[in-house]
Amino acid sequence: MSEKIILTGIKPTGMPHIGNYIGALKPLIENSRHNKTFVFIADLHALNSVHDAKTIKMHTYEIAALLISMGLDMNNAILFRQSDIDAVYKLNTLLMNITPKGLMNRAHSYKAMLEKNAAAGDDADAGVNMGLYTYPVLMSADILLYNADIVPVGADQKQHVEFARDIAEYFNRTYGNVFRLPEPQIGADAGLVPGLDGRKMSKSYNNTIPLFAETSELKKLVMRIITDSKLPDEPKNPDESTIFLLYKHFANSTDVEKLRQMFENGKIGYGDAKKMLFDAINATLAAPREKYKYLMSHTGELDEILASGAERARKIADKTIERVMHAMLG
Ligand code: TRP
Repeated sequence: MSEKIILTGIKPTGMPHIGNYIGALKPLIENSRHNKTFVFIADLHALNSVHDAKTIKMHTYEIAALLISMGLDMNNAILFRQSDIDAVYKLNTLLMNITPKGLMNRAHSYKAMLEKNAAAGDDADAGVNMGLYTYPVLMSADILLYNADIVPVGADQKQHVEFARDIAEYFNRTYGNVFRLPEPQIGADAGLVPGLDGRKMSKSYNNTIPLFAETSELKKLVMRIITDSKLPDEPKNPDESTIFLLYKHFANSTDVEKLRQMFENGKIGYGDAKKMLFDAINATLAAPREKYKYLMSHTGELDEILASGAERARKIADKTIERVMHAMLG
């Protein structure tokens, strides 16, 4: 086990699809086999957009059940709910006082809201609450509290992790060396997971395959993948085929190589390739899907797992907050 501490937060705002799984969750789960990994469900971060407790709670269970059923290594991973750790609210307040307002003005997510408002002719800050505006401060608190070295995130979150590092550096210069400096780790091929229509798989394109679709639904979706009109005996470029690009993530390397050859040599039609893809996805996800269903109907077990994760996380967070308060307040 390496010394590096990995940490990431997942916002509970809906069921992940297989694109999210390949891009972010699969690397995280693999990492958890070799490293101490903090994984929390960022329910406080969901609050700036979701104003319904039941929804947040349900999505929190979904993410927890999903990570456990997909094989998060529960020996190395500390899985908890962000809001269970009092120290994070404290650190958020403390960091507010050293975070330049200008840094928040530069946040991509805030700037995107301003641009949207401008385009609609609305007031510049329409729909922007302070939770959204100061989102990167809370996220810095998350990261710095647990002394994270490496923060695996999607490309859209890279800037936030860099902010956390900036804030930590500024803090250390002002108050002495308290925080470890984190680094973002961006999933290499996260952007390359195509959806049913060949564009990047994304909820906003309505082209996703939900991670735990039932077998019949999964089959239907896979059969709907859009292809060109090449005939079975025509050579095809596997690296341009949605079917092949998805298959790569679910089959073993021998089978991937076999399908590559069949594409290149005109030995398979799209219909048969889709059947292979369906079988590979279903074989990977069938058992986790059952475990997921079990956990979702036994949320008491999830509560226990999250509570014991919180207990472990709290021990570390409390130590950090003590050092920070001592440095800032004496
Ligand atoms: N902001 C992240 C997202 O929207 C979730 C998140 C919250 C996070 N706190 C974090 C990610 C700390 C990494 C580290 O996806």
